[in-house]
Parts: sequence; C-alpha cells; structure tokens
Amino acid sequence: MRILVAYGSKMGGTEGLAEMLGADLSDLGHVVEVKSGSDVSSVSDFDAVVVGGALYYFISWHKDAKTLIKRHLEELRTKPVWVFSSGPLDDSALEKDIPPIKSVQRLIERVGARGHVTFGGRLEDESGGLPVGDWRNAEHVRRWAEEIDRNLTSVGS
Ligand SMILES: Cc1cc2nc3c(=O)[nH]c(=O)nc-3n(C[C@H](O)[C@H](O)[C@H](O)COP(=O)(O)O)c2cc1C
Repeated sequence: MRILVAYGSKMGGTEGLAEMLGADLSDLGHVVEVKSGSDVSSVSDFDAVVVGGALYYFISWHKDAKTLIKRHLEELRTKPVWVFSSGPLDDSALEKDIPPIKSVQRLIERVGARGHVTFGGRLEDESGGLPVGDWRNAEHVRRWAEEIDRNLTSVGS
C-alpha cells in the first residue's frame, strides 16, 4: 500500500523516528513517503497515513503534525490513520504504554485513528537543563510498523 509518514519535528528527533518507521514499512512491502507535515499539500495519493509529532511542555504537540490533521481532516477520516508522539527523555516509553496528551487524544478521536504510540525522545542541546541522550528505540518502532502492517493487510481493513 502507499503510506504517508508525516512528522512535526523541531530538533530532528521525531523526523528520525518517521524515517525509521518509513524504512520498516518499506521493508514490509509498502511504498512509503516520509515528509514534514508542513510539506504535505495533499493526502489523496495515499492509502494510509501516519502522523507523528514531538511533545513539548506537557501540553504541546508539534504544530506541523497538528495542522496536517486539521487541514486534511475530512479526507483523513476516510483513510486508515495512525498517530505517534515523541518523546520522553527516559526509558518510560519502553516500559509502559504512554497515552496521548489531551489535545492529541481529541485529534485521534476526530480523525478516527486506529492507534497511537509514544516513542522515547532525543535531546542533544544541553542548555535547557533537561536530560541529554537518545531514547528512540529501533525495536519499538519496528514492532509498531508490524502492527500497522498487520492491520492494513488483514482481510476487511
Ligand atoms: C523545552 C522542552 C520541553 C519538552 N517537553 C516534553 C514533554 O512535555 N513531554 C515529553 O515527553 N517530552 C518533552 N520534551 C522532549 C522532546 O519531546 C524530545 O526531545 C523530542 O525527541 C523532541 O523532538 P524533535 O527533536 O523532533 O523536536 C521536551 C524537550 C524540550 C527541549
């Protein structure tokens, strides 16, 4: 299937997760395009869409992800959609299922998304006093790609 993986990323960490997911979905036999939500003018060419956004300040999901869903809401409601968030600067996303923040939950409901996952994040900038490191996990991304693939290729999806 043709799958769009669109992201909202400020410092590149979420973009990297989108690339990892795109590569996994390609390995699973899909034709994948990975782009910033701000570069997506149409979702018409795709059979399924994944939208990922970076989390900031507990209440904020990157605007390029948010705007993409809002702008194409009616069309996206007719397609299989998945959503991901990133990401905690510790191992918590691997240890438990972290639910979406409220605003993302609302978007998930409006668009009728089939699933959501929170992946670990990455921070390279030491100036903010937050933990610096990379908690993105290739195995975690791979498992979610397989879940999407299973859902898309099951009869009647
Ligand atoms: C100022 C600041 C606030 C952040 N707030 C959150 C947060 O509320 N929740 C969270 O899970 N991660 C938070 N993070 C971690 C980022 O989501 C993480 O670094 C992510 O990988 C950034 O994605 P990006 O590189 O695509 O912008 C914060 C990071 C910074 C620098």
